[in-house]
Amino acid sequence: MANKRIAPGPKIEFFAVVLCAALLAAGLAAHAQTADQAWLRYAGGHGESAIPSSVRALGNSPMEKSAVEELQRGMAGLMAGHKSSASEGETVVGTLDEVRAEFLGLAVPAHIAAHGFWLKRTTWQGRPLVIVAGSNEHGALFGAFDLLRHIATDADVAHLDVIEAPAMPIRWVDQWDNADGTITRGYGGRSIFFEGGHVRDDLSAVKEYARLLASIGINGCNVNNVNDAAPFLEPDMIKGLARIADTMRPWGVRLAMSVDIASPQKVGGLKTFDPLDPVVKAWWAAKVNEIYEQIPDFAGFTVKADSEGQPGPASYGRSPADAANVLAGALQPHGGVVLYRAFVYNNHLDYNDMKADRARAAYDIFHPLDGKFLPNVIVQIKEGPIDFQAMEPVSPLFAGLRKTNEAMELQITQEYLGEQRHLVYIAPMWNWVLDFDLHAEKRSTPVKEIIEGKSFDRPLGGMIGVSCVGRDWLGAPLAMANLYAFGRLAWNPNLSAEQIAAEWTKQTISTDPQVVATVDKMLMQSWPAYVDYTGFLGTQTLTDITGSHYGPNIEASERNGWGQWHRDDAKGIGMDRSVATGTGFAGQYPPEVAKMYESAATTPDSLLLFFHHMPWTYKLHSGKTVIQYVYDSHYKGAVEAAELGKEWETLKVRIDPKLYNDELARLEYQAGHAVVWRDAIVQYFLKESGIPDALGRAGHYPGRLEAEDARLTGYKVIDVRPWEDASGGKAVSCDLGSRQGACTAEWTYKGAAGRFNVAVQYFDLQGGVAHFTLAINGTEIVSWAADDKLPSRQPNGDNSTRFTLHDVRLKPGDVLRVEGKPDGSDPAALDYIEIDPAAPEPKL
Ligand code: GCU
Repeated sequence: MANKRIAPGPKIEFFAVVLCAALLAAGLAAHAQTADQAWLRYAGGHGESAIPSSVRALGNSPMEKSAVEELQRGMAGLMAGHKSSASEGETVVGTLDEVRAEFLGLAVPAHIAAHGFWLKRTTWQGRPLVIVAGSNEHGALFGAFDLLRHIATDADVAHLDVIEAPAMPIRWVDQWDNADGTITRGYGGRSIFFEGGHVRDDLSAVKEYARLLASIGINGCNVNNVNDAAPFLEPDMIKGLARIADTMRPWGVRLAMSVDIASPQKVGGLKTFDPLDPVVKAWWAAKVNEIYEQIPDFAGFTVKADSEGQPGPASYGRSPADAANVLAGALQPHGGVVLYRAFVYNNHLDYNDMKADRARAAYDIFHPLDGKFLPNVIVQIKEGPIDFQAMEPVSPLFAGLRKTNEAMELQITQEYLGEQRHLVYIAPMWNWVLDFDLHAEKRSTPVKEIIEGKSFDRPLGGMIGVSCVGRDWLGAPLAMANLYAFGRLAWNPNLSAEQIAAEWTKQTISTDPQVVATVDKMLMQSWPAYVDYTGFLGTQTLTDITGSHYGPNIEASERNGWGQWHRDDAKGIGMDRSVATGTGFAGQYPPEVAKMYESAATTPDSLLLFFHHMPWTYKLHSGKTVIQYVYDSHYKGAVEAAELGKEWETLKVRIDPKLYNDELARLEYQAGHAVVWRDAIVQYFLKESGIPDALGRAGHYPGRLEAEDARLTGYKVIDVRPWEDASGGKAVSCDLGSRQGACTAEWTYKGAAGRFNVAVQYFDLQGGVAHFTLAINGTEIVSWAADDKLPSRQPNGDNSTRFTLHDVRLKPGDVLRVEGKPDGSDPAALDYIEIDPAAPEPKL
């Protein structure tokens, strides 16, 4: 909101505070985070350290060089202004073998698992010695970053003696970057890798990204979208990819790429892409050779096939195993792997078929293929059976493959979780998923142990995070906690979300204990709050699933082939996925878990409606009815969202002012959008169920004055679609055709005299920057521009947002007038104004 102007009127007592809750969203977000180093800030203030600042590599591998470079840079920043108390000694970086050779007689661990490290503070010939030793050069690099993490989080380094190794071999991020420079489901600007169909000339941001990834132990990056992957196998593109691989290599991050299974036809010009055709096999083998000639450490392919319009082996009656094995066969001699995605389903399901169930698809397709994949194939399974929803159960396929390598795919980019405009720290959900015990073979088999390869004794396994960073990283500073958490959990899935949050905050924002406690509390509250206002009791994110995936749109998931159904009607809501009467999905879990989900009585409330269709009046374990839970959780969620901003305000004098203001504006936007969500869901289900809110809130908005009830000049009343996205289903829109000008809506205040906050709820559409002014008794008080970047070109819950004028005195008879000036295709549409009592004045 660039053009905000405040004009205190003579007749109005106006208490200077105007906060713009509507502000920002993606507009401001796009400039918040440039190619700096996020948590690798290395801010000073860590005083003296027991770590010698003289650093040297024992070998001459590129990764050891990177480690030394990073330690020098990091320690210089972290200990700025202080001399190391151990200035006499040295810090050395090497492999275990190199350390043994250099310090003859020193007790060195005999073996550490691949990519692991040993950090040790000792003395050598009377002088302090700090050893950063990797089982290989990767380990040395990861160890260097861990040492810096110790210093940055003020952990004890005086008695340093740490051995660590990653829990799983595959720790990758997936980018959904397109050759034209866009990023599918990316909310942080354009691609750091591609532009205009080519690899970018300037790859400096790629180096920074690789540093960030290395610092959290990530060892692979799949750089292109799983859709439209064919152009990436063109010879020129492979040359470009080789430059990306060269840039990431010194940071231990190997390049992988998504491939289109129809490439032999699309790129190679063959008549077929049948994976079992010998010519097709030969084409893949030759293509893979071409890649390895230029990228000798190429990590492998990711495949999305027979899914959401992508071609696949089904066209030839072949199975995913047939397709995966052809690629795997070509990659195997070079040490590459295939990540074959289990996200395969029919998106033309029949809504009227009560047995149809998208959730079943992955298990139905892949379970029969268990044992049929080559050893260098890993089946990549989304954490839940649908698609990264706010809340869904763990995929039963994790327990359905015992002779196949498995990796779990998580989404770091917040596609269904507020698109980075909302603060949602996802690590608590990931903890829940990782710890979920599937009880396969009647023993304990938590998901984390399955993907570590422990449960079923598999050599390969891991975690894949769909990160989609762009030139502004994730587009929101606090969202970077999710990228950080992903890497830390892939390294060690036993870490807790709280522990990771504390580490991240100390490195990124401040080590001030109050800052750490407050930010961590906010992070931990954010996912439960988001679930509370967007998708209750396992109904998933109730958003526009065929469009923006952002604002509320309850019917968008119903009556179509996509299968994200929740099947609501006047009597009840939920999908019956039981074996006895439903789709049978519950029966895909091992018996103990299947038994729990089979019956509504034993299904946890949080997933009840995912597994069962229940009457609105059904009593939950909590004792509330389903419909009362809908009301209560949404009012609670909106309050929780508002609290995030209040908590952040307590940090004003403690943190960087730029970060403070940026995040405050984001949180104010979020609080307003949580009200949009709350009202949409509550009014929809109130109408549908016909059951009133026991606490009388639903359908009653004290202080709200609807635009359609105002005295209108120029504005026309419109029906908003979906109706639940506007208060009462209606709004007003200023459609002047080709004429210049403005429209006004005017209300007479009839309440008691006092101090109030006045929120103006409007729709900020793309394609123009509408301007608004708020006047009281004819005097303009404030004006602002609707210049946020929110989805959708129609007024709806994607772009419904608010401007709040804080602390204004009103008395009965005062006239409030909003003037909206359209611009381009933004018709300055208005939903309502809301007049709420302001907080009590502070006592002087
Ligand atoms: C989601 C997302 C798509 C993506 C797909 C996938 O459905 O909206 O953009 O392609 O997941 O994981 O393949």
